[in-house]
Amino acid sequence: MTFDKTKATVVKAAFLPPALVKRLDETCSMVEWDTLSEAERAAAAANARVLAVNGESVVTAEFIARFPKLELIADFGVGYDGIDVAAANARGIAVTNTPGVLTDDVADLAMGLLLATSRRIVEAQRFVERGDWANGGFTWTKKVSGGRIGIAGMGRIGQAIARRAAGFDMAISYTDRQPVAGCPHAFVADLATLAAGVDFLVMCVNGGDKTRGLVNAEVLKALGPEGILINIARGTVVDEAALIAALDAGTIAGAGLDVFEHEPVVPAALQGRPNVVVTPHMASATHATRKAMGDLVFDNVAAHFSGEPLKTPVLP
Ligand code: DGY
Repeated sequence: MTFDKTKATVVKAAFLPPALVKRLDETCSMVEWDTLSEAERAAAAANARVLAVNGESVVTAEFIARFPKLELIADFGVGYDGIDVAAANARGIAVTNTPGVLTDDVADLAMGLLLATSRRIVEAQRFVERGDWANGGFTWTKKVSGGRIGIAGMGRIGQAIARRAAGFDMAISYTDRQPVAGCPHAFVADLATLAAGVDFLVMCVNGGDKTRGLVNAEVLKALGPEGILINIARGTVVDEAALIAALDAGTIAGAGLDVFEHEPVVPAALQGRPNVVVTPHMASATHATRKAMGDLVFDNVAAHFSGEPLKTPVLP
């Protein structure tokens, strides 16, 4: 698909995969925000019709205000908690994201972190590599199959995790703003009660102010000394200081974390622990899915410049 390059101006303001950048570059007049001087940025912003960002971008009302002709913010990611959607919509600027295509991968990594943490796979590898096996067997680990999993946020990703957990014969319960229609699993009205009744608490809620610090000292205490926390949602969902305190005190058994409050910084107190597995916000990062996400971003931009309905708009 090609557009009138001079009219299809896209500002790329975050990391995007090279294949997507190439497609945008070939079809649109594209500039890279990070490479520009302040004067060049002012010129680019004056003409930009599309802002291309990713799920970790922070796009404030002030930033949006720099783009007087902006029509679309295209997010490479499902999460858009960093984008001031209300400020965008107030100016008639649409926002798109990439839901659906990454659901399975994120659910896979959630299960991977759950298995790695409970079965202490990373610690076991360190044990072998240190040569410790010669001195005796590895310590016993926590059983997953038949365990109790609590899912906070029964959206697309939560449901995909539930399907996987069912394959491990786990007892599944969940919390959400309200019971999800047609969901066969046990609904629990609040997070602390959910945490109190499970072995594994998996956070899949959206990021943003409404969920900030949701996993606090009270929830961690409820999860208890045998409980494991998994977070593939957003770092802001967990009160990291409370988590570190709970790990220090041994009042939870462990944590598997793909997201952090101040990425790419992972607090030193969460690293090097035998019972904590950390990954660098990579839940959707498989070749196939990152390509599908890139294609969806491009399709949204193409639909916009062709006057067609957006493929995956973020609804107000
Ligand atoms: C998403 O899609 O929101 C992922 O977390 C990447 O930011």
